[in-house]
Amino acid sequence: MTAQAWVIGGTGGIGASCVRSFEASGLRVHASNRPEEDITQPGVAEDVARRLASDGGFSVAVHTIGMSGRRLGDGPVGKCTDEAWEEVIRVDLTSAFRFLRACLQYAEDGSSIVLIGSALAKGLDEDFLTAAYRVAKAGMHPLLEAAAYEGARRGIRVNMVSPGLVDTRMAQRALNDEHIRSRFPELMPLTKRPSTADEVAHAVQWLASSKAIQTTGAVIPVDGGWLLR
Ligand SMILES: NC(=O)c1ccc[n+]([C@@H]2O[C@H](COP(=O)([O-])OP(=O)(O)OC[C@H]3O[C@@H](n4cnc5c(N)ncnc54)[C@H](OP(=O)(O)O)[C@@H]3O)[C@@H](O)[C@H]2O)c1
Repeated sequence: MTAQAWVIGGTGGIGASCVRSFEASGLRVHASNRPEEDITQPGVAEDVARRLASDGGFSVAVHTIGMSGRRLGDGPVGKCTDEAWEEVIRVDLTSAFRFLRACLQYAEDGSSIVLIGSALAKGLDEDFLTAAYRVAKAGMHPLLEAAAYEGARRGIRVNMVSPGLVDTRMAQRALNDEHIRSRFPELMPLTKRPSTADEVAHAVQWLASSKAIQTTGAVIPVDGGWLLR
């Protein structure tokens, strides 16, 4: 049977690019989208993973969901609201934990698992001060290392792609802001523009392939040089 990839968030910009590139490479793809398969809800990731395991199994899994909490009041530590903190940690970090737990139980030996992080987990920038988002994305790093350590004995690799700004729905506030646009050459000096979702998906596809067979526990920047400032 054709190998199967599981993509969490096939409706998102990066998620849809991952679905397209996996399908083009000949993988069968199962995309989990809300509301039918909302893996931010307890138990859903395990239910879906168990079902996929009994339906031919899965050897690639990518977590691409995430939210910006700005609408709920995410911002500098001194101003971030309780609501933004709780919702962003739930959607961006807790769902990644549940996803990895399900993968470590149900993915095939030799699988590749990929998370999408963010340059904002590390760099601090006046125009991008979002305490909840930063902590949610930074929290994925030790989680990723622990999952990579646990998965290694079964040949399961766990890695992360860490973008800067990507031209998707999530980044529209920043991309439409004239001041931020004028800073592209400074923020992303390699290309002086945001990444496309496909550019992020290319790195995911490499990590998902056997070409990355010696790579696990890694955070791969796809950020146009964001963190080099
Ligand atoms: N865009 C950027 O500049 C950027 C930069 C660094 C990292 N990232 C990360 O890249 C990943 C993909 O984001 P994207 O750029 O592709 O953004 P996007 O196009 O807005 O897609 C976001 C995805 O997350 C899902 N989602 C959002 N809020 C959710 C919630 N409360 N519960 C369940 N699912 C939810 C969306 O589902 P619906 O379609 O149902 O809303 C969609 O599938 C995220 O982890 C994001 O943090 C993005």
